[in-house]
Amino acid sequence: MPLSDISKRDWRRAAVAGALIGGVITGTLSWTLSVRSSGVATLLGFVIGASLFGFLLTLVGSVNVKLNDIRETVIGHVGDTRDELRSMANVRPLLDEEMLLQFGGYAMSAHFAEVVLRLLMQERPKLVVECGSGSSTLLVASRLKKFEGGDRRVIALDHEEKYADITRDLLSRHNLNEWAEVYTAPLESWQINDESLSWYGIDLDVLPDRKIDMLVVDGPPAESRPLARYPAIPVLKRHLSKECIIILDDGDRSGESEAAHRWAEELGCELEYAGGARGTWILHRDHS
Ligand SMILES: C[S@@+](CC[C@H](N)C(=O)[O-])C[C@H]1O[C@@H](n2cnc3c(N)ncnc32)[C@H](O)[C@@H]1O
Repeated sequence: MPLSDISKRDWRRAAVAGALIGGVITGTLSWTLSVRSSGVATLLGFVIGASLFGFLLTLVGSVNVKLNDIRETVIGHVGDTRDELRSMANVRPLLDEEMLLQFGGYAMSAHFAEVVLRLLMQERPKLVVECGSGSSTLLVASRLKKFEGGDRRVIALDHEEKYADITRDLLSRHNLNEWAEVYTAPLESWQINDESLSWYGIDLDVLPDRKIDMLVVDGPPAESRPLARYPAIPVLKRHLSKECIIILDDGDRSGESEAAHRWAEELGCELEYAGGARGTWILHRDHS
């Protein structure tokens, strides 16, 4: 059996057994060497041997368990990187040649971009609302531009003027202003059921006079607020179309996972976990 398969508990057992065996061996040696006369030497030999063997085995066990943890983490990261590269390869041919999108860090993951693109092409939404502007706004706007039957747009919310401006600038440079609008909406306190939660302080009247077909949720950042993204559905529920699709990034975090489950319950719809390096949740409102 490879060392990496030995569990923490088995290492502890091995350390106790090793201490006993080591104690007996060194105790016997001491007894023999002290010409079978000294009980104190035998006892001392046993204690020293037991401590030494026990300590050595505990040390080997802890190092092995730690190495195992590191190995698992590295394997996980390598797997995530491979999946991200695969998603980038899938997304790249679907983008305009001159468009350079950022993936990872604060920007969406490549896997999230792939899911959003696939659903955009499948659903051809007219109105997309996005929480958390950036590369994703460019991605959505550039795809809406390609669809026939005009009057399609993405409305992106950003709680920080600085990042809203960066997105606006990117949209202008790619001639996508006709298909996207970025609203700066600093976070405000919303009373949702019995909870006071902060979310984008938007005036819902800015939404066009039609229902939202797709909601892309990649903000606000969670920081120390685990349910930072949850208010999206309670606040926007009235504005969602009956067939609305909701896509949530960073779904492997406990707060986002809880938000996705709460949404599914509140909307009475199907919840799908689409995986990816950071986890993506999809809610299909028409699959109730
Ligand atoms: C997860 S990011 C949204 C990313 C966006 N959907 C994209 O694909 O680029 C959420 C918010 O973080 C903020 N943000 C973006 N870049 C940042 C950075 N480098 N440092 C701190 N905050 C940032 C913006 O206000 C943004 O709306």
